[in-house]
Amino acid sequence: MGGRRLTLKLTVSLSLITCFLLSSSYGQNCAKHSFPNNRVFKTCSDLPVLNSFLHFNYDTSSSELEIAYRHSGIGSSRWVAWAINPTSTGMVGSQALVAYQQTNGTMRVYTSPITQYQTQLQEGELSFNVSDLSARYENDEIIIFATLGLSNNGTMLNQVWQEGGLNGNIPQMHVTSGANVQSMGTLNLVSGEAGTSNGGGSKLKKRNVSECL
Ligand SMILES: *[C@@H]1O[C@H](CO)[C@@H](O)[C@H](O)[C@H]1NC(C)=O
Ligand SMILES: *[C@@H]1O[C@H](CO)[C@@H](O)[C@H](O)[C@H]1NC(C)=O
Ligand SMILES: *[C@@H]1O[C@H](CO)[C@@H](O)[C@H](O)[C@H]1NC(C)=O
Ligand SMILES: *[C@@H]1O[C@H](CO)[C@@H](O)[C@H](O)[C@H]1NC(C)=O
Repeated sequence: MGGRRLTLKLTVSLSLITCFLLSSSYGQNCAKHSFPNNRVFKTCSDLPVLNSFLHFNYDTSSSELEIAYRHSGIGSSRWVAWAINPTSTGMVGSQALVAYQQTNGTMRVYTSPITQYQTQLQEGELSFNVSDLSARYENDEIIIFATLGLSNNGTMLNQVWQEGGLNGNIPQMHVTSGANVQSMGTLNLVSGEAGTSNGGGSKLKKRNVSECL
């Protein structure tokens, strides 16, 4: 009897330690984030580069994807964007949500379909419906909120995220090396797992935080 209880105790503490080790090394930092107005997102993903996090709720029956894209450590005169690319893995074809603080301090957030590499991220309609689009800038972090009406195309998406400078209120080209060319990959809408487009991404596995509670 005593032995079994001890084994149980050991198992529990081992799994707690494992949880601790896994969450500290593969860190799912996003899971700790709380949003204003008690908004809750069921799933989140620490994106591998550019201090970015994607939080979302996906409704499989309606194919509606409610997202919050967080980009931390960003200066006040920079733009950020998060996009789905329905047709390929790179930047061209991306259906983007763009946000930045304008020179007068108000936020601008809008949709921009990317049709070529030379883009100033002009506003335009996306290939899917977007509603409840808003953005905020606080503590060096831009957050874009939106609800996307995806057609039922399966649960894997190609995602792209980016940041760059502004000239006045006009977005400028982003850096074309380092993290700024690695900021794309797949997103599994059901598991929340973010992968790189070359099939990697084991380090980015979603931690199910509730397992540790
Ligand atoms: C779904 O697939 C269609 C046809 O390939 C495409 O036009 C559409 O943009 C896709 N939607 C999403 C959200 O990927
Ligand atoms: C801030 O600047 C933008 C872009 O010029 C303009 O559309 C908006 O009305 C301005 N907002 C305020 C409160 O001045
Ligand atoms: C967008 O929403 C409108 C109204 O809800 C709907 O009629 C239209 O088919 C939708 N478009 C796409 C591309 O899903
Ligand atoms: C996470 O844990 C909850 C509760 O145990 C479970 O319902 C859910 O399916 C798990 N999700 C994943 C992705 O493992």
